[in-house]
Amino acid sequence: MTDPQRTEADARPAAVLKGLGTYLPPRAVSNDELSERLDTSDEWIRTRTGIRQRFWADPGTATGDLAVEAGARALKSAGVDGVDAVVLATTTPDHPCPGTAPWVAARLGLGPVPAYDVAAVCAGFVYALASAAGLILTGVAERVLVIGAETYSGILDPADRNTAVIFGDGAGAVVLEAGRADEPGALLGFDLGSDGEQHDLIAIPGGGSRQRAASPYFTMQGKKVFAQAVTRMGQSSTALLERLGWPKSSVDRLVGHQANVRILHAVADLLDIDRERAVVNLDRVGNTSAASIPLALADAAGSGELRPGERVVLTAFGGGLAWGSTALVWPDVTPN
Ligand code: COA
Repeated sequence: MTDPQRTEADARPAAVLKGLGTYLPPRAVSNDELSERLDTSDEWIRTRTGIRQRFWADPGTATGDLAVEAGARALKSAGVDGVDAVVLATTTPDHPCPGTAPWVAARLGLGPVPAYDVAAVCAGFVYALASAAGLILTGVAERVLVIGAETYSGILDPADRNTAVIFGDGAGAVVLEAGRADEPGALLGFDLGSDGEQHDLIAIPGGGSRQRAASPYFTMQGKKVFAQAVTRMGQSSTALLERLGWPKSSVDRLVGHQANVRILHAVADLLDIDRERAVVNLDRVGNTSAASIPLALADAAGSGELRPGERVVLTAFGGGLAWGSTALVWPDVTPN
């Protein structure tokens, strides 16, 4: 489908989205189930976050297992069986060392390709897309598998109602291929940023070299994170739209990191985009961190809410703090 606002400059090389695959573990966990062991309620969780359920992997299932499933489905969706690189965004790698991506590449039978993890928490998928686009634009790779995968269920403090009700497990993946910016699916630009002064708003205190023996559980200062998420995703999307010369009114779908429906609506309001144009699937899957954007894309494309030819802005925010946005005209891709 043609985009009437293309310019000649858009004939430049670009990384183009060709396939989309997702995987959720089979076990759905309802708000009511969590309310049985935590001082919370379905009503509180639904009204304060929009989340109705999330999926949690069974103990013994690791992030790499979910990544392999989503990766295989993305390759199938793209109609390819090989890539030149694998980039995996995750906060919950199988091990602190080595990276999870090489094992995922091997499990997928992709051969001795470059494969590495990206750690940018809930902004991880957008950072991984930018990294993969860089591999393509520098000629290192023609085709890259980009995966966001998480098993937060393993790092949540079961007694902490501030985090235990919010996060879910899952994986999503896309195939990017070398192409041109005037093709549907081309990633047309990136806006990325970070603020390490606020690194403590979202953290796993233990396990790293600074406080190796501290708590292994995920912590979040929800209220401060909420405010930062709205501001940073709003600013980042706005900066990107200005750079692309896309009027805010021309955006058909806003696919934001699925943390809280109130955050998504506030970002839409900041961008003067109808709230109905903000894709929401967190009600079904919760906050899946680095897997959030591809899971939302797949739900929207699968349901017909997101159609080929539509202008899409992806924007994400998470620990670091780190945030990022990219934009594309949605291609004719069938999610798998
Ligand atoms: N069930 C019931 N009550 C809860 C609760 C829960 N699961 N979690 C918190 N509360 C209580 C608090 O203890 C507090 O009680 P108090 O007023 O008696 O002190 C009250 O609800 C309000 O807490 P607050 O933290 O101010 O709630 P909130 O409206 O900010 O919602 C979040 C909390 C976590 C849902 C919200 O801040 C949020 O979504 N933050 C951003 C998360 C995010 O964006 N993550 C993305 C980066 S990964």
